[in-house]
Amino acid sequence: AAGEPLKVMISGAPASGKGTQCRMAVEKYGLVHISTGDILRAEVASETKIGKKAKEYMDNGMLVPDEIVTDMVITRLSLPDVQEKGWLLDGYPRSSSQAQSLERAKIRPDVYIVLDVPDEILIDRCVGRRMDPATGKIYHIRNFSPETEEISMRLIMRPDDTQEKAESRLETYKRNAEAVLSTYSDLLKKVDGNRSKEVVFQEIDSLLLQVQADAVQTKKLS
Ligand code: AP5
Repeated sequence: AAGEPLKVMISGAPASGKGTQCRMAVEKYGLVHISTGDILRAEVASETKIGKKAKEYMDNGMLVPDEIVTDMVITRLSLPDVQEKGWLLDGYPRSSSQAQSLERAKIRPDVYIVLDVPDEILIDRCVGRRMDPATGKIYHIRNFSPETEEISMRLIMRPDDTQEKAESRLETYKRNAEAVLSTYSDLLKKVDGNRSKEVVFQEIDSLLLQVQADAVQTKKLS
C-alpha cells in the first residue's frame, strides 16, 4: 500500500523465531531487515575490530557492550535504503539503555511485536537449529529439513547454540526484557510463537496490514 514506509520492531527470547518471521516479512513488505545478531556474526566471521571485541560476549551468551551495538544500529537506520523501504529491527533494543538511546534519537517503531514461546521449546529450537551459510536460511534438524542433499551437506551450527549457552542467553533475555517492553507498552503486540511458522506469520501479517491501514487513515484526517 502507498504511504509511509513501515517501522517494525520484533523481539522475543532466543530462538523464538524472530529471524524466521523476519525473512517472511521482508519477502512480502520489502522492508530492510536489521538484525544485530546477524551483523555481529558477520563482523566476527571477517575478524574485524568490532568482531574481535564482540566474539567473547556472544560465545558466552552475554550482551555485547552498548557502545558497539548502538552506533552500528543508529548508523544503519540513517541510510537511504532504510528511509525509503522502511525497517524491521530484530534483536535491538535488548536492554533499557539501548531503548533509551533510540528514544533520545527519536526513533520509534509503528509496532513492537513480541514472540511468545515456552522455555523448554526454546532450548530445543536452539540446539536443533542449523544455518545455510550460502543463503542465511535457517533450518531445524526436525522441524525444517533442508530442501536438498547439497544444502544439507553445508549446514552449520552456531557456536552459541549448545544447551548450556542457550540457557545462558535465555537468562540474559529474561533479565532485560521487562525494561525494554515498558518503553514500548503503548505499541506492544504479543504473538503466540508456539505455532507453525506460517500461522505465526499470518498474525504478524495482519498486524502489519492494520498498521498500514491506520497510517493511511491518520493521513486522510490530517
Ligand atoms: P541473536 O542472533 O539476535 O540471537 P537470539 O536473540 O538468541 O535469537 P536467535 O537468532 O537465536 O533466534 P530467533 O528468534 O531469530 O529464531 P530463529 O528464527 O533462528 O543474537 C546473538 C548474540 O549477539 C546475543 O547473544 C548477543 O551476544 C549478541 N547481540 C545481538 N543483539 C545484541 C544487542 N542488541 N545488544 C547486545 N548484544 C547483542 O529460529 C530458531 C529455531 O527454531 C530455528 O531452527 C527455526 O527453524 C526454528 N523455528 C522458528 N520458528 C519456528 C516455529 N514456528 N515452529 C517450530 N520451529 C521454529
